[in-house]
Amino acid sequence: MIDPYPPASDIGEILVTTDELRTRVDELGTQIAADLDGRTPLLVGVLKGSVIFIADLMRAIAGPVEIDFMAVSSYGDATESSGVVRIVKDLDGGVAGRDVILVEDIIDSGLTMAYLVDYLSGQGPASLRTCSLLVREGRTAPGVQLDYVGFELPPAFVVGYGLDAGQRYRNLPYIAIYSPSEPSGEGGSDSGGSA
Ligand code: IMP
Ligand code: MG
Repeated sequence: MIDPYPPASDIGEILVTTDELRTRVDELGTQIAADLDGRTPLLVGVLKGSVIFIADLMRAIAGPVEIDFMAVSSYGDATESSGVVRIVKDLDGGVAGRDVILVEDIIDSGLTMAYLVDYLSGQGPASLRTCSLLVREGRTAPGVQLDYVGFELPPAFVVGYGLDAGQRYRNLPYIAIYSPSEPSGEGGSDSGGSA
């Protein structure tokens, strides 16, 4: 696949290659389809970071699948989640009686996932599972079981495959460490904006 940013000086070591992403996302889709045992899952993607992942994941699930999206914004500084989550875009449809799989890009503090699980579980889904492409090593979402996880990552800020730094680099076809050449520049993640 083409790297749209050659040669980007802000991009450091590649931690997950395009091939590794494809293989693992296919495995997750296969596992989800098996676990759902014929029922139609409703994948709920958390905008914007999960868009590439959910697009590939839904195509890796054999059989009917529906998607919906939420957008949240976390207050606080750019690189640390404050745990205060505000819903910017709610679901188009309901989750009552549905087999819901909440799809995130990365678990860092886990507070976004914990908040959304709490929010959705209050709406009477038939089942609610969690899926995150990435989890930072040693992290978890407080009080939440992570049912499907793609990769564990070391504690570096990463970009690509949907994940951004200042809204850039989501279109990199791999996951790489973000190492800005000008640290005072546009770094960080979600400052005032989307997850
Ligand atoms: P949490 O609530 O601390 O788990 O925050 C998770 C959200 O922060 C993710 O959905 C991402 O939007 C963002 N985030 C955390 N770590 C990174 C990273 O390394 N790169 C890009 N975004 C990140
Ligand atoms: Mg996110």
